[in-house]
Amino acid sequence: MLRTRVKDINVAYQIRGQGRPLLLVHGFPLDHSMWRFQFEILATEYQVIAPDLRGFGQTTRGTAPISMKQFAEDLSDLLDALAIFEPVTYCGLSMGGYIGWEFWKNFPERICRLIQCDTRSIGDTELMARGRRQMASRITAQGPNGSTLAADNMVPKLFSEHSAQAVPERVSQLHSIIAGSDYQMIAETQYALARRAEATHWLPDINIPTLLICGEHDAISPADEMQAIATAMPNATIEIIENVGHMAPLEHPQAVNDLIRQFLKQTDSSC
Ligand code: MLT
Repeated sequence: MLRTRVKDINVAYQIRGQGRPLLLVHGFPLDHSMWRFQFEILATEYQVIAPDLRGFGQTTRGTAPISMKQFAEDLSDLLDALAIFEPVTYCGLSMGGYIGWEFWKNFPERICRLIQCDTRSIGDTELMARGRRQMASRITAQGPNGSTLAADNMVPKLFSEHSAQAVPERVSQLHSIIAGSDYQMIAETQYALARRAEATHWLPDINIPTLLICGEHDAISPADEMQAIATAMPNATIEIIENVGHMAPLEHPQAVNDLIRQFLKQTDSSC
């Protein structure tokens, strides 16, 4: 991992390859390693940057309040620090996707294509937000063991039954990553997720080429909801991957890589 100072944080990131920049943004509460099956292969044609978000992986927490907008600002600051000023292809998963909407909203000049995997545009309902706040207090109450509680609670929802059978080691690796995360950061980010902006009304204005990828059995960002996102966006296509849950890039890397590479090839002229 490389590290660079960005305002109040030390950002840990991987960067490889040459060509147009492609930013890979992980979900909650994970780190850059969830892209490990995409990173190398995409770096044969693009300059791929995979950071750990503020407070996750090896990136420090800093002092700024946590929000999806703050994460987006951190990414823009990281691009400045890396002297990447041309527009990037932004690729996020789930929370990485929520940050993607904010990145487009706040830094439209920095983005020329969007790849959104297993994500949503709607904000939390009051019921969902309450569930998150309750989970956050349980995690905080447990202290450092709260991360294991979060992992036990989340991991069963992340993979399809098929993937849990086919690639059990990836399920346990993800459990270890969550269990190894900072419990306070997990709790704080739950509050930030509960407060995140409703992005659905932005969708008709996002006219950059967009690829939406969703697992057929995604229990967190259901395929029919992502279909509605595709319909609301003027320049989006959607691909549903069979037998896959919420973690499409980890569950079926080959399918995800093929879709991303094909999309990038087809839309290179607009970037
Ligand atoms: C994620 O994978 O980033 C989370 O499941 C997002 C969420 O909790 O809404």
